[in-house]
Parts: sequence; structure tokens; C-alpha cells
Amino acid sequence: MCGIIGYVGKRKAAPIIFQGLKKLEYRGYDSAGIATLHDGEFFIKKDAGKIDDIHKRLNLTDLPGSIGIGHTRWATHGGVTKENAHPHTDCHGNIVLVHNGIIENYQELKRLLSGHDMRSETDTEIIAHLIGEEMKNGKDFVEATKSTLKKLEGQYALLILNKNDNRMIAARRKAPLLIGVGDGDYFPASDIPAFLDYTKNVIYLSDGDMAVIDGEMKFFNIDLNKEVQREISTIDWDPEQAKKGDFDHFMIKEIVEQNETIQRVIEQDDSFMLSIADEIKKHKNVILVGCGTAYYACLTGSYLFSKIANKYVIAVSGSEFSNFKGLLNEDTLIIAVSQSGETADTLEAIRAAKSVGGKVFSIVNVRGSSLDRESDESIYTKAGPEIGVVSTKAYTAQVAVLLLLAHAVVGKLEEGKNRLKNLHALVYNLTALSTRKYLRRLAEKLKDEEHIFTIGRGLMYPTALEAALKLKEVSYIHAEGFAGGDLKHGSIALIEKGTPTIVFVTKDTERDVISNAMEIKSRGGYIIGVGPENNEVFDHFIKVPEVGFADPITHIIPMQILGYQLAVLRGCDPDKPRNLAKSVVVK
Ligand code: F6R
Repeated sequence: MCGIIGYVGKRKAAPIIFQGLKKLEYRGYDSAGIATLHDGEFFIKKDAGKIDDIHKRLNLTDLPGSIGIGHTRWATHGGVTKENAHPHTDCHGNIVLVHNGIIENYQELKRLLSGHDMRSETDTEIIAHLIGEEMKNGKDFVEATKSTLKKLEGQYALLILNKNDNRMIAARRKAPLLIGVGDGDYFPASDIPAFLDYTKNVIYLSDGDMAVIDGEMKFFNIDLNKEVQREISTIDWDPEQAKKGDFDHFMIKEIVEQNETIQRVIEQDDSFMLSIADEIKKHKNVILVGCGTAYYACLTGSYLFSKIANKYVIAVSGSEFSNFKGLLNEDTLIIAVSQSGETADTLEAIRAAKSVGGKVFSIVNVRGSSLDRESDESIYTKAGPEIGVVSTKAYTAQVAVLLLLAHAVVGKLEEGKNRLKNLHALVYNLTALSTRKYLRRLAEKLKDEEHIFTIGRGLMYPTALEAALKLKEVSYIHAEGFAGGDLKHGSIALIEKGTPTIVFVTKDTERDVISNAMEIKSRGGYIIGVGPENNEVFDHFIKVPEVGFADPITHIIPMQILGYQLAVLRGCDPDKPRNLAKSVVVK
């Protein structure tokens, strides 16, 4: 949650930071602020609201100086107010900083700061005061920051400036932070798109790292208590991928991109995939873990492993994982699924498995993320930057990787790849303008509904859950997914005349799920069928091709589009749904 970016170099910092914050807005968008340092003075502007609105009011880009920091917030401690917006300073205005994460022991630390004038309700502000206090006791900026960092418990990515020093300190623990390295300029940031227009060279900081940046960079690791070296890597993302292009929103751009992103999944190295499959085969205790949409990809994966490879693989939601800790041992293989690679609950799950000697593989989109770096092996989903807060192309890429792995476990990797190859033209059609227009007409019909239900059996059960999530999180219409046979165990009581129910149909589930649709229809429900063939029970039909084990991919795409259209028609921002943040780095 929250996005931070800094700049140290020769150019004017504020416009670069402002543009970077706009790219990071998907991480939080309730307040924003920038601080620059120029001639020994801090210049700070911040407020509650979306960054463009704040800019219109305050002009965020006219701050002087070629060193500065910025923040876009997703509130955790303290309401959405100007006072709680970052950057924060110490009492004397000597230290200014921005923070992504949560300081869990901030109340204890705050008690040590009696006499200090706190201006916000945040956990962040105390860090500035602690550094100021250490400096008052004679330490220099770097040593004062080191001592302060040692006292902090929780997660942080921090960018810190001192009025009397032209150096910036960047530090991280359990929250993402990397440094873009340009030609004489440095861009510490929460995520790559923030600086992708300037450089593709990046340094990934490790947990406990602290970088001191001026004309060069020095790295120190707090846990190792010594200076460390960090290498520069090159990013394979294209700056264009992080732009909206001709699309109105990132969400629809990323939905349309799926005909390419799914094909990129096939480019995995065969021998690498087979070695991963081998480990899956060898381990009796294989657990898929992820959160939200990534969890539904895991659930789909558990069905795919069962159906394709006859292999029992359990899917557990990251937020519930601690309840299964007792099952972990050195024979456990965790496969963590995540777009960002920074989801706190998913990371906690892999750390628990590693602590008992278990193996960890990840299916992850962001290279160099915490999950990538902490896993024994990573399979990259290669979906490119996903900027829309709602996961679309990352989800289908995750499912595609799991489909390949399930095939590889039984020596059918080639068959799996062919299945995905066949999707190219089909996904193109599913995302074409004509399909989008067709779904817009359905969205017009549904836009004032209070509830939408979704049902599916087999592979379509996790698809129904993911469809309901897609619809509700962008349109704010209550949507709920069920296994086809489950509705009549209680929830069918909610069906009234005209209640829309989306029914996912595949060849192998057709008979049973159509019976379920009949049960709903005979109670007045309005049935929207999603499948290869129309049926008399459907009041509305969305045709999708029959593609066997790849059905979870084809069947979800119209639901992503429908969710998008509903959001637009209801005046919601599909790229930044209320209350959500792209990376959930807190538990
Ligand atoms: C929903 C959505 C979230 C994420 C979840 C996990 O559209 O995007 O449910 O899937 O927060 O995020 P990652 O995949 O980054 O671990």
C-alpha cells in the first residue's frame, strides 16, 4: 500500500517525482505529497485527495531543488487528512521522510518521545522524530538513521532527507524498494513504472538494506551490521507497457493485452519447467498459496493438478495460512502465486515453510520482488506491468502457468503449450471491440442491480468466485460466487424475480450446472449463460469457446470486461476502486 519515489541527480526533482507518483497511484490514492531540498531548505507540499486534484490546487511541480521525495498514501494509521499525508518531519524540521509500511511498535516508540510535538496520527512521523533525537545526541545523519532503524518493528520502505546534508537515505524491511540507476541520477521507488521512462537499470535492495545516495551509492545492511555490495540488473519491461496508450483505463488495456500475455507464458524454458514439475511430483505435501485473485488462481490450480495430473495439491489463502502451519515440514513444497510478489500474507506463508526446511517456488510477475528473491525458484508470469488495481492479465497468466505445470507433471508439457497456443485467436476475439460492445449492452441492463450471483462446477467453481470478485470490486454491486450445487443449500433463498445469476458452462459440467440454472430460473432468477452453446434456460447468452482445461481463462475474460463496463456506467474509477490498494504489504 502507499507508493514512494525519490530523486537525486542534476535535474529538477519535483516534476520527476510528480510523474513517478502518478505511476504509483495504483498503490494508494487517498493523499499525496512531495518534499524537496534546496539550498539547505525543505520545500513541502501535501494534501488529502487524488494527486491530480492536489496538483491543481497546490502545483506540486514548482518546488525547487534536484533532490526530493514523494508519497502517495493508502491510509493505515490515522484518517485521510492533510496532517496525516506524507512527507513527515521532526519537531525542528531538520528531517523529512516518506514511508510505505507499518511500524508495529510505534506506540512504544512514541512513549520515548515525550516532549516532542507530533503533528499527525501516523506511525510514520515518529521515525523522523527518532532520527532527530539521535542527531541531537551527537550522531551524524547516517548513524542516527541506523540506530533508529534498529528500533523499528514491522515493515518499512523509507526515503529520508536531512536539511544539512545532500544525501538521501533509502531503507527497506519487508516492503518493496528498489533504485533506478540512470546516468548520474538515482530513483529510489516502490515499483519499476515510477522510473521506467528514465532508466531500465535497477538495484533491488534486500531486507535490512539501507542505501546512502548522493553522487554515488553505498549500501549497508542493518542485520549484517556491515557494508554490502548490490548489483545492477536490467529490466525487460518496455516503458510503453506502463502507459494507457489509446485506452481510457489501464484495466481495459490490460484485459485486451491478454491475447499477448498468455502467449508469453509459453516462452518458459522447457527444462526449467520440467525440473519444477519433477519437484512437484516428488513432494507429497504441495500447497498453493496466494491472496484474493491469486488465491482463486491457486484454487484453479488445485483442480488442474487433480484433473490433469491426478495429483493432490491443496490451495490455501495466504491470510488463513497460519492455521495450516502444523502441516509444514521439510517435505513441504509451497508454490506461492502473486502478481506483485509483495503481498504480506503470502510472504509470511513462504517464510513459515522455509523456517521448517520446506521448499518454496513462486509464480510471480514482478522480478526482484520479495517473493522472487526469497523463493528457491521463480516462474515469471511475464505479463508486464499490471497498473490497474484490479488483477486481470496477471490472473490469466497465473492460471496459464499452473496449467503448464499440471501438464508437465505427467510429461505433457507440449500438450499444455499447444492448449495455450490455441488461445491466441480466441482471446483476441473475446477482447475485440464487438465483444466489448455486446457486454456493454448487458452492463446497461445490470447496472442498477443490487446483487449478482455466479455459479460454476469443477474448474468453473473458482472461475465463479473470481468472476464475482471482478464484478464487485470495480462496480460495487454485491456479487457472490458459488459452486453450482451449493446454492440450494441455503443461498437460493436470496433468488427473487429478476435476480441475475451468471452460470458458467463447460462440456463436462453442462448437465449438472444447467439443472442448477433451472432451479434458479424456476424461482424467478434471470439467467446469464457463459459457455460454448446457448440453452433455452438462458435469458442472456455470452458465447465463449470450449477449450477444455483452458476454460478458466476463456470464461473469465468476459467477466473482466463486464466488471469494467459496469464500473464505467456507474461512474466508478475502474483503475482505482475505492478502499483498495494494488499491493497489500500489510497483514
Ligand atoms: C483483485 C486483486 C487482489 C490481488 C491480491 C493479491 O483483483 O488484484 O485480490 O490478487 O491482493 O495480490 P498479489 O497477486 O500481488 O499477491
